[in-house]
Amino acid sequence: MIHPDVVTTIADLRARLDAARAAGRRIALVPTMGSLHDGHLSLVEHAAAIADEVVVSIFVNPLQFGPTEDFEQYPRDLERDRAALAGHPGTIVFAPAVDEMYPLGASQTRVTAGAVGGLFEGRSRPGHFDGMLTVVAKLLNIVQPDAAVFGQKDAQQVHLVQRMVRELDIRTRIEVAETVRADDGLALSSRNAFLDERQRRAARSIPLALEAAQSAGDRGIDAVLAAAQGVLMGEPAIELDYFAVVDPATFRPVPDEFRGVARALVAARVGSTRLIDTETLVLG
Ligand code: PAF
Repeated sequence: MIHPDVVTTIADLRARLDAARAAGRRIALVPTMGSLHDGHLSLVEHAAAIADEVVVSIFVNPLQFGPTEDFEQYPRDLERDRAALAGHPGTIVFAPAVDEMYPLGASQTRVTAGAVGGLFEGRSRPGHFDGMLTVVAKLLNIVQPDAAVFGQKDAQQVHLVQRMVRELDIRTRIEVAETVRADDGLALSSRNAFLDERQRRAARSIPLALEAAQSAGDRGIDAVLAAAQGVLMGEPAIELDYFAVVDPATFRPVPDEFRGVARALVAARVGSTRLIDTETLVLG
């Protein structure tokens, strides 16, 4: 199978995409940090269905790692990622070095995620969402795609990117692809590989808690929280970080009187592996 071309400089990528655009071809971007799994490949398939050229960026962005986080240890294997994309002919991999993306050193100009950036995932990772938005803004400027595809699993990231695009008048359409789940219900994530068999069984409580929350939706928010917590507390190997139900418009916890479509969020540790998941639910 043919492995996709790898472009490492902004100038080369722009030259290639300018030619595609001039020929009337639609461009979609799938931003990633590599370590591609089937969840990423479903984003690539989504992109291929709506565009003629698909750019998969593979860049481990130092700006979104905190000083105590594992930037150096983060897995990088470009050849493996290229092989994973071999079934997706025509895909272009954009894999710049850190110096190419940040030629003046750590960017002084940043996009800030605001108050929502400090909630949920942002609570344990100060500055993470500012770094994420800054690199996504750069990638959108470099690629200028018609659409960019993000996975729903990272719900807070999706919310913040959608908000940035709206507030900064960026022309790209943000498309959100549904979470891909394994047969046991666990959302696909590169971190699942760290779970042993017993932990994997315990981790199933996460999607089960989301299902219980969905079923309790018509009984209101208190019933939803009780149903989800009941499932999670019943599994001693799970250390819950948060379970919350947010208004999709604001990403703030819903008030008691909220009715309609909401988003349930969960983050929990199983052993040393931290997992996140999300589902929509309807509060009646
Ligand atoms: O979700 C990710 O992998 C990263 O946050 C992203 C969007 C590629 C930005 O570095």
